[in-house]
Amino acid sequence: MSNLYLPRRQFLTSTAALAAAAWWTTPGAFAEELTRTARTTEGPFYPDHLPLDTDNDLILLNDNITPSLGQITHLTGKVLTAAGEPVRNAYVEIWQCDHNGHYIHTANNFGEEDKNFQGYGRFLTNAKGEYYFRTIKPVPYPGRTPHIHIAVNKNGKRLLTSQIFINGEKQNDKDGVYRQIGDETLKKSVVADFIAIPDSRLNELAANFDIILGVTAIELEGIEGHGLGKPERLMNRRG
Ligand SMILES: [Fe+2]
Repeated sequence: MSNLYLPRRQFLTSTAALAAAAWWTTPGAFAEELTRTARTTEGPFYPDHLPLDTDNDLILLNDNITPSLGQITHLTGKVLTAAGEPVRNAYVEIWQCDHNGHYIHTANNFGEEDKNFQGYGRFLTNAKGEYYFRTIKPVPYPGRTPHIHIAVNKNGKRLLTSQIFINGEKQNDKDGVYRQIGDETLKKSVVADFIAIPDSRLNELAANFDIILGVTAIELEGIEGHGLGKPERLMNRRG
């Protein structure tokens, strides 16, 4: 799915990476080799009220024809176990501030609200563990480098809370949440390349972000079905 938007060189690179990942994740001695996606704080701005529309297209609200402000980004990826198995029927949630820095949260007062931006979306992974969102490239707001909040849930259980950062963004190294992640390998687990889609008239971007969970397929069998987990709102106060 994601490869549709990538220039040929990236496509070949990612195909090679997938082949390598398949080899490493063959059940047996080399299982559990994928780096788990680092957890981060949920932040204080998980929506305290949901938008009218919660689908995976954040740049159009319901039947509006006016898109939100911001650079359109096609965000794709897979949810996988540490052994590389796809996690299907998992609810992936994302939320982020609009182009002016405003979140869908009553306590948020950064910038004037872009009423055309959905601010939050959810997507149920398919049999290959894939998810897809159309959203905007994240922008900075006071005290934070650009990021997209992301959470993975299965049958009402929150399995992971994290944030997606822009690979190579200069403000990352000054960002408290990013710095807290620790070593470079873990930091790599939360960055994505935002790549220009060739010949896109609207300068759209593609970003691919695989999510590696710290649970096994057997543990997941105990949490069949799907549903949204409880937010971890009380855990922290940093956006
Ligand atoms: Fe945030």
